[in-house]
Amino acid sequence: TIDQRIALLLKEMTLDEKIGQMNQYNGFWDVTGPAPKGGTAEQKFEALKKGKIGSMLSVRGVKEVRAVQKIVTEQTRLGIPLIIGFDVIHGYKTLSPIPLAEAASWDMDAIQKSAAVAADEASAAGINWTFGPMVDISRDARWGRVMEGAGEDPYLGAKVATARVKGFQGTDLSAPNTVAACAKHFAGYGFAEAGRDYNTVDISNSTLYNIVLPPFKAANAAGVRTYMNSFNILNGVPATGNSFLQRDILKGQWKFNGFVVSDWASVREMVAHGFAKDGAEAAKYGVTAGCDMDMEGNLYVTELAKLVQDGKVSQELIDDAVTRILRVKFELGLFDDPYKYCSEAREKTIGQKQNHEAVLDMAKKSIVLLKNDNQLLPLKKSGMKIALIGALANDKNSPLGSWRLASDDNTGVSVLEGMNAYKGNQLVYEKGADLITKPAAFTQELVFNVSDKSGFDAAKKAAKAADAVVMVLGEHGFQSGEGRSRTNLDLPGLQQELLETIYAENKNIVLVLNNGRPLAIEWAAAHIPAIVEAWHLGTETGNAVAQVLYGDYNPSGKLPMSFPRNVGQVPIYYNNYNTGRPTDADNNVFWSHYTDVQKTPLYPFGFGLSYTSFAYSDLKSDKPSYKKGETVNVSVTLKNTGNFDGKEVVQLYIRDEAGTLARPVKELKGFELAELKKGESKTVHFKLTNDELGFYDNNGNYKVEAGSFKIFVGGSSNDVLETSFVLTE
Ligand code: IFM
Repeated sequence: TIDQRIALLLKEMTLDEKIGQMNQYNGFWDVTGPAPKGGTAEQKFEALKKGKIGSMLSVRGVKEVRAVQKIVTEQTRLGIPLIIGFDVIHGYKTLSPIPLAEAASWDMDAIQKSAAVAADEASAAGINWTFGPMVDISRDARWGRVMEGAGEDPYLGAKVATARVKGFQGTDLSAPNTVAACAKHFAGYGFAEAGRDYNTVDISNSTLYNIVLPPFKAANAAGVRTYMNSFNILNGVPATGNSFLQRDILKGQWKFNGFVVSDWASVREMVAHGFAKDGAEAAKYGVTAGCDMDMEGNLYVTELAKLVQDGKVSQELIDDAVTRILRVKFELGLFDDPYKYCSEAREKTIGQKQNHEAVLDMAKKSIVLLKNDNQLLPLKKSGMKIALIGALANDKNSPLGSWRLASDDNTGVSVLEGMNAYKGNQLVYEKGADLITKPAAFTQELVFNVSDKSGFDAAKKAAKAADAVVMVLGEHGFQSGEGRSRTNLDLPGLQQELLETIYAENKNIVLVLNNGRPLAIEWAAAHIPAIVEAWHLGTETGNAVAQVLYGDYNPSGKLPMSFPRNVGQVPIYYNNYNTGRPTDADNNVFWSHYTDVQKTPLYPFGFGLSYTSFAYSDLKSDKPSYKKGETVNVSVTLKNTGNFDGKEVVQLYIRDEAGTLARPVKELKGFELAELKKGESKTVHFKLTNDELGFYDNNGNYKVEAGSFKIFVGGSSNDVLETSFVLTE
């Protein structure tokens, strides 16, 4: 068995060799070129040959991975293969939509397939471990990394986490086309204060257990093989050095037997946090707390041996970490064949047609129709003069989104290209204004100080002469992601001004949004008749957008995150607690609200339109009262009342009316995708069990409490039918 093989190997290993397994370095030299000479690259190269590196990240390509595996298997004493990690966040080379967009599909089969395509391409390039899925729940659109997650809701987040883990890992981790997944960032990273990346996280136990942890727990239940801890402090203790999270919860209560990797140098960063006094102490805290592998921190490999010799870190802790790392390597089949993921023939399949078809399908499913007054959409396919305006419309880079380390620049289908494929209309393109001042790269700050309005006149002219205007506005693909927090959620640069200028010429505007986070578009929502949320949809962006605009695909996406009216409302989310003064019942000023803007979001969680319309009726539970443990069967009738066949995400929310801890006003506890032909009706069924009806108390105990519950079902968190039932002891 694997356990026996690990035990045998462990007996053979010296302390240094064990610690080597716990050390991960970023690709530090051109592995197919000459050996590095001088500096840290040479030191790392020597470490590699001595078995002091257990994993490398960001080495990719069959030739490259083969080269590093050859060094460790042939030149080190025990020949233990490396595990090769890479950020495969939304595809490898053929890119699917950013994860937030995928979550908007609410389509778990599609999301699982998308992850499987990503795993297939990544593993064909020698990679056997992805640093995904990111399962951080976040309520703060200022945080740039909301693009990598599934939004604000723990129930949806848990389902998406499960789908992604299954997609990456498949049913057989040792198969050459699957990769080990990594649920990250454990934990709390999405709650960085003020949405500023890497910032302090200070949250209640209730938020931790009920909001933050469920997707991580679901990932474990789905068999995720690794976790990444996190840069942030959580309630005073850095996540990387947090025993409560990693030892008590993850490896204790959840019985996780894979391994935990640090985030990039997060072991070392515990010094900057003011938690560890020096690198040695940081290494000690990390390993003691259950952080098994040190990513680029260079501390385990330099400090741990002495800590063990001095009796400050036990041999058992080291053995536990190494056992876990070796286990995943065995499961991946790397000991049986270190070159298992190195097939030149498979590498040639990267980017194959079927992968493009899969990401196109995912892209269409991710689009959310936010507004469609007077059925401006879908556009007629012939006889129209259409002005297409906005720099993003003619951009082949931005739609690829952030976190796309292996894809080539400018390989996305632009909206201009996508719309040009429809030949029946006359299409005129005008940029209007640039969005950024120079081409962008993943590692660069973007420069948005654009002031050149010389393109406005041509755009105005085109708009005036057109029957309809399509404007593609929003954020550049690299404007969200790691290190891309914003204090404004508006349309950056000159885009708002351009939008209002064009509106003065022609009000018949379809606004296509490109963005990695909810934006505050109050003016557009009030004035622009049609708004399509198209995120950053990956390689096939333009084709997906065009097919939706022309009605070849009827959109069905629903927002996984609330869109605020303005940034001052943030954090804003649907599953909030009630205040003691939720309404203006007394008709005075002393109720929970803002004096300058409504307190509701602009577009709520779960919201999204279709070209058709749906009517809900007859919501009921099969009984008025249930004993704890009995299944509550809920049904609702859904009718397609519009003029198109369509798909609806039917959402079920509950409200536990009174609990030993205050309960949120609504909590998502079920959803179903229903496809209905025009005129068709269907009954949609849900089941509520203990798993849906309880909550975690402040000690992390799951409780189901007797009492009254409301059930809400509808097509958005704010547009629901209501019924109720009682739960008895
Ligand atoms: O996987 C990432 C993580 O999400 C952020 N820091 C770097 C890691 C490796 O690239």
